[in-house]
Amino acid sequence: MTVASKVREICQELVLSPEVLKEVCDCLQEEINKGLAKDSHPEATVKCFPTYVRELPNGKEEGRFLALDLGGTNFRVLLIEFSSKCRMDSKIYAVPQPIMVGPGDGLFDHIAECLASFIKERNLGNELLPLGFTFSFPCKQEGLTKARLAQWTKGFKCEGVEGRDVVELLKQAIARRGDVQIKICAVLNDTTGTLMSCAWKNRNCRIGLIVGTGTNACYMEKLEKVELWDEVIDDPPQIFVSRSVVINTEWGAFGDNGCLDFVRTEYDNNIDSESVNPGKQLYEKMISGMYMGEIARQVLVRLVSEGLLFGGFASDILLEKGSFFTKYISEIESDKSGDFNNCRAILEELGFNDATDADCANVRHVCECVSRRAANLTAAGVSVLLNRIGEESVTVAVDGSVYRFHPHFHNLMVEQISQLVKPGIKFDLMLSEDGSGRGAALVAAVASRCAAMR
Ligand code: GLC
Repeated sequence: MTVASKVREICQELVLSPEVLKEVCDCLQEEINKGLAKDSHPEATVKCFPTYVRELPNGKEEGRFLALDLGGTNFRVLLIEFSSKCRMDSKIYAVPQPIMVGPGDGLFDHIAECLASFIKERNLGNELLPLGFTFSFPCKQEGLTKARLAQWTKGFKCEGVEGRDVVELLKQAIARRGDVQIKICAVLNDTTGTLMSCAWKNRNCRIGLIVGTGTNACYMEKLEKVELWDEVIDDPPQIFVSRSVVINTEWGAFGDNGCLDFVRTEYDNNIDSESVNPGKQLYEKMISGMYMGEIARQVLVRLVSEGLLFGGFASDILLEKGSFFTKYISEIESDKSGDFNNCRAILEELGFNDATDADCANVRHVCECVSRRAANLTAAGVSVLLNRIGEESVTVAVDGSVYRFHPHFHNLMVEQISQLVKPGIKFDLMLSEDGSGRGAALVAAVASRCAAMR
């Protein structure tokens, strides 16, 4: 057997057959049903939280809004103005690693400090602008402005926040400073923001999808299918008109009850056990940008140890956890076929100065297997939602660094979804421009419109 075919054989477990993907779809469908049903919800892994967003924008939203966006690669503060167009001014702030895993008050003080400095820099101190807070973690919403954090994901682990209302924590932090006034109109997940942002101009939009640091999706579900939706939770203010509601599936947690073990590999197990949340977010850990590079690194290390790459010698850098960034996968797969320019440059950064063409081809193959598996698993998830919605033509709003920057992710997803949706369902995947920011402002805008109508 040649080296290349041995490499292919080892990577084969990352290749999911149509039958396996169909099985993944069936499992997810079942988990979503469990999440939505009252009796099974407490134990369900895919929580399917109702969001209180029941109305999509109509494109006529107007006014100036502030938005906060926490939960992706960066923390951002934005000022957004809607007229016939949407104008946006924003600033990115770092969330230092010690704050990500430090006490909760420290995190909210940091957010409040960034917000205050943005308001001062832009001279917005005299206006009481409505604010939308995109908080992209699993939350049980108890109203449009009340969201209890169910659990941290994506490497955050701040003490004292799980189980608490994050809007209240933000208000307290702002009060501790005492130098700015704000009016929080909505708290939302980035998937909801993405859906809203796309629905602003596209009437067919029913699904919001993120494939970035984490992965998750939301969709419009009919109220009668949402058993959790009862008079009690119907009471607080909400965006209200239609007989549907946006459901935040939190599908990143799909598989946490073991139902995906039949597709998980030793690499997935290693990544999980070395993470800050072992046993949690298992579907997310096979798909999203926070983990994809590390999966590829683990496969590469295995190939070296079997003598199939780099003459059997690993560099110190490659042996370091986290050294193979997810963006490398996008860059390596962006090389034209037969040319390994990006691949070679990356391998040099990793300490391999004399990689052969065969090494490069094998590294590229590993990247392709890892990213294809992620795209196929995401496609399985989207197909389940499209089949549930059952409308003839649906637009899926998509955002996130993996979808945005990987050269083939979009096409791979389209191809796979086409194989998995019921005949007759047409769909398209649309890049949603800055869903977390614009979407937050839109939810705030729709909220004020609905409040005015009541
Ligand atoms: C994680 C979060 C989820 C978010 C997703 C994408 O899965 O739990 O709330 O939507 O990442 O950012």
